[in-house]
Amino acid sequence: MEQTFLMVKPDGVQRNLIGEVVSRFEMKGFTLIGAKVLQISPELAETHYGEHKGKPFFEGLVEFITSGPVFAMVWEGDGAILEARKMIGKTKPQEADPGTIRGDYGVNMSKNIIHGSDSVESAKREISLFFNDNEIESYSKTVNKWV
Ligand code: PPS
Repeated sequence: MEQTFLMVKPDGVQRNLIGEVVSRFEMKGFTLIGAKVLQISPELAETHYGEHKGKPFFEGLVEFITSGPVFAMVWEGDGAILEARKMIGKTKPQEADPGTIRGDYGVNMSKNIIHGSDSVESAKREISLFFNDNEIESYSKTVNKWV
């Protein structure tokens, strides 16, 4: 089973979209194995988005992601990383397909509701940045044999 890190960004939290986001991944058949609301520190933001350091949007990205609470999650499921990225949609909401989270709710490159890991390596790195081992509970759901 693959694990991925997803995070409802400050705009999604402020717009009451936590439940909508969780519902989409639950209905897809993934299992939520870790979740918490937190205020990201500038240090954590810079580490999390470290690969973008030096890009023109980096400072604005750090400022935005630290501007209010986020909802961090770990999800488990077959092909969860790629499937979640498909369900999230393209970074630019105007280019994201209808039916994707960003296509349906995103406003711009910054206010695009949700972050999702883009590879096995980044999922491992991001999960360990945001969660301790004892905050993740991996378990199986009998309903999963039907989906
Ligand atoms: S890149 O350069 O193609 O790798 O970047 P991209 O994948 O498009 O975006 C990486 C993350 O940066 C956010 N982003 C921005 N934030 C604020 N302002 C601007 N202009 C901007 N451009 C990109 C974007 O939402 C991505 O966030 P995550 O959380 O990784 O999806």
